[in-house]
Amino acid sequence: MSESTTPAVTPVVTPAVAGATDWRAWQRSWDRQQEAYLPDREERFRVMLDMVEALVGPEPRVLDLACGTGSITDRLFKRFPKAVSTGVDLDPALLAIAEGTFAGDDRVTFVTADLKDPRWTDALPYDAYDAVLTATALHWLHSGPLAELYGQLALLVRDGGVFMNADHMPDPATPRINAADREQRHAQMDRAKAAGALDWAQWWEVAANDPVLAAPTAERFRIYGEHADGDTPPAAWHARVLREKGFAEARTVWASPSDALVLALK
Ligand SMILES: C[S@@+](CC[C@H](N)C(=O)[O-])C[C@H]1O[C@@H](n2cnc3c(N)ncnc32)[C@H](O)[C@@H]1O
Repeated sequence: MSESTTPAVTPVVTPAVAGATDWRAWQRSWDRQQEAYLPDREERFRVMLDMVEALVGPEPRVLDLACGTGSITDRLFKRFPKAVSTGVDLDPALLAIAEGTFAGDDRVTFVTADLKDPRWTDALPYDAYDAVLTATALHWLHSGPLAELYGQLALLVRDGGVFMNADHMPDPATPRINAADREQRHAQMDRAKAAGALDWAQWWEVAANDPVLAAPTAERFRIYGEHADGDTPPAAWHARVLREKGFAEARTVWASPSDALVLALK
């Protein structure tokens, strides 16, 4: 998320237990940080998994795209224990948390790849998926590379399978509504911070000071810099481009004032 302030904090969360890293504690602190920006985050995941069940059933093969710590895979396995998942991301620190959390779970494989690399799908263990799911991530890509990516996903999703993108998709046709919503969300974020939630920059500061995550965190800042922002086209753009790139149907299946969940059916 890009809506952060410059931190001047002493780390307040150190998720380590007696020398061993407590990966679940890192998951909780990541979730808390993300929820400060996205109070509806769990609802979005719930609707996403409802639509997975409705369209491809309770034992899907899933690609958790730009998986971060594996947030979608985590909810997927809790709800559908017979699912399998591939998590793909470029961030070595978030992937370290994902790999630590799911160590020994042979239902999931994590892959390091840059979604802007035209050959990123070569690194995947399967050549087709029932569902490709992504959340709070593709706004990092500009619409040109994102449209290219949608073309690749149309080849990766099997016929009858689904792609879902839950992300920030503000509608440029409603600037005053957007501004009012932004103001309210900032007030919510301030309350979450006052209650102890870390913002994006503060969370990374804690990671940078952790003995296990310090090196991969330094590496992720070398890769990304502070943050990479795209141009956040509206939900109608996503649905249109997904259809143009080969999906049969595409539309919003959930929305908040700032975010949407767009589903495309192959
Ligand atoms: C805010 S996190 C969201 C992670 C997870 N989906 C969640 O909801 O908790 C955005 C993720 O997108 C990943 N990402 C952004 N651009 C990427 C790219 N070009 N290739 C691979 N991953 C990318 C980042 O590394 C990061 O893990």
